[in-house]
Amino acid sequence: MPEEMIVPTAPRILAFAGSTRADSFNKKLVRIAAAAARAAGAEVTLLDLRDLPLPLFDQDLEAEKGLPANARALKDLMLAHQGFLWSCPEYNSSISAVLKNTIDWASRPVPGEPSLACFTGKVAALISASPGALGGLRGLVHVRSILGNIGVLVLPDQVAVPRAHESFTPEGALKDAAIQAKIEKLAASLAQTVTKLRG
Ligand SMILES: Cc1cc2nc3c(=O)[nH]c(=O)nc-3n(C[C@H](O)[C@H](O)[C@H](O)COP(=O)(O)O)c2cc1C
Repeated sequence: MPEEMIVPTAPRILAFAGSTRADSFNKKLVRIAAAAARAAGAEVTLLDLRDLPLPLFDQDLEAEKGLPANARALKDLMLAHQGFLWSCPEYNSSISAVLKNTIDWASRPVPGEPSLACFTGKVAALISASPGALGGLRGLVHVRSILGNIGVLVLPDQVAVPRAHESFTPEGALKDAAIQAKIEKLAASLAQTVTKLRG
């Protein structure tokens, strides 16, 4: 193979739900979206935030003990991926505390690392699921705003799944083919955008 030939690598996407709940609707949804991103050619890491428990961010704790090991592991994971596929629960019309805490820890600088290294230049696709009629749409407004302010390009399209308690089969598939198609389109768009931006 000629030396100058560049072998394209698959876009790397980190997928997780902003919920630690075992039966989380957002975990079900992000699993489906992750499978769709893989089908679109992406290399997807599906993370359960329950596997990386973090203390509530406390600047005194950080000053005394530095970054917790799980925050370091989270940052390493984020640094190793170019795209984010996040399913975001809506709590009181906004972002879940778990997701905000995750973002806050990952945003903390460490010596020798550029500011907001986990976020700058990343591409994100946002989805949500809620038993309510709006599917978590109002929470996505806030997640989008936060990510935009820390250097993430958030895709304009998003998918919110209403009546989530009635939306999945016992096997965890979406019952509504139209919603499934929207998730597939968004996941493919994320994979394509990461690939294009990477050049
Ligand atoms: C503290 C709290 C606040 C909530 N606020 C909202 C809300 O504003 N809008 C909404 O659609 N659902 C709200 N819910 C319901 C969540 O959408 C529901 O618990 C959902 O299952 C959480 O996501 P998960 O299934 O991924 O854990 C709230 C739930 C909790 C516990």
